[in-house]
Amino acid sequence: MTRILVLNGPNLNMLGIREPGVYGSMSLPAIEEMLKETAASLGVDISFFQSNHEGALIDRIHEAYGQVEGIVMNPGAFTHYSIAIRDAIASVGIPVVEVHLSNIHKREAFRHVSVIAPVAIGQIAGFGAQSYVLGVHALVNQLKQ
Ligand code: DQA
Repeated sequence: MTRILVLNGPNLNMLGIREPGVYGSMSLPAIEEMLKETAASLGVDISFFQSNHEGALIDRIHEAYGQVEGIVMNPGAFTHYSIAIRDAIASVGIPVVEVHLSNIHKREAFRHVSVIAPVAIGQIAGFGAQSYVLGVHALVNQLKQ
């Protein structure tokens, strides 16, 4: 069975509480429950990891080598400056779909750049919690090809 991992970076454990006008009212556990249903409907195995720490995310990406076929990742603010996470993704060579709840391209200028995008298959941004669902569909679709 195809195995996918959903990775969330800093402050995403605060979803539901954090700036609901920007990120919506759904908590991360609720999003993960929704993604379990998405994964079941697509017949893939899904696991989850969230950390506020860059090194922990890098360690989890390394551990994913040989363990999962694809990753859906919301790197949070690390999107905009973590060359180390970018390099971890490039190191393991696992296909990654980058997702964001908000449309980073219509927000502050510092959010317009993603250092992750060049090592991702593609990016989904601006659809709230649905961005994750779309990300899982896009990833599984790519893995089938
Ligand atoms: C985010 C966008 C980032 O700019 C921000 O730092 C986040 C969340 C999003 O999902 O919209 O933490 O990745």
